[in-house]
Amino acid sequence: MMSPFTIAIDGPAAAGKGTISKAVAAHFDLAHLDTGLLYRAVGARMLMGEEPISAAQTLVAADLENPDLRTAEVAQSASKVAVIPEVRAALLDFQRAFARRAGGAVLDGRDIGTVICPQAEVKLFVTASPEVRAQRRLAELTERGFETDFDTVLADVKARDDRDMNRADAPLRPADDAVVLDTSELGIEEAVAIAVKTISAARD
Ligand code: C5P
Repeated sequence: MMSPFTIAIDGPAAAGKGTISKAVAAHFDLAHLDTGLLYRAVGARMLMGEEPISAAQTLVAADLENPDLRTAEVAQSASKVAVIPEVRAALLDFQRAFARRAGGAVLDGRDIGTVICPQAEVKLFVTASPEVRAQRRLAELTERGFETDFDTVLADVKARDDRDMNRADAPLRPADDAVVLDTSELGIEEAVAIAVKTISAARD
């Protein structure tokens, strides 16, 4: 399949986007871009004292290898730099080119179906209740050795939702033609199976 085939997967933090995107990319043999990593890389450079716009404009592949990108501190910093229109603009072309690469691609983020690739052939909006998302994020952070608790993680999730949904530029929301997948009551395998089925129907 050589013509571009883009799968846009958007949704709030810890709803299962990352897991679903990786599984879908493997299933359909498509390239995958976790666009949150771009904002996290800019957020990490801001925490090191850099000005976020110039950090976004000079981002290099090695920035995405930074082992600290998954911390809660970098996540908050990412959602702060993500409200700056010039930061978003600096990351736009790379994401658009990736989305339309030959052979097809899966991109996950907040604005893929609405801003980066409104012509995506399939759009999924993966969501879950804030409590379920906080519980999942807590399990993930605990497993990776971070000491935290449910209330702290829930407050972080809600603060990030608030910033992501209420910013002026590219706010988090489902595209009008997105299929909404609520994973609150679903296991990973069930959620992936629904995503694969939705995409298969769109490809036929
Ligand atoms: O997906 P992840 O949690 O890694 O994203 C970190 C932050 O980056 C989000 O909270 C959001 O503020 C920002 N982001 C964005 N647009 C995207 C992907 C991420 O604004 N497409």
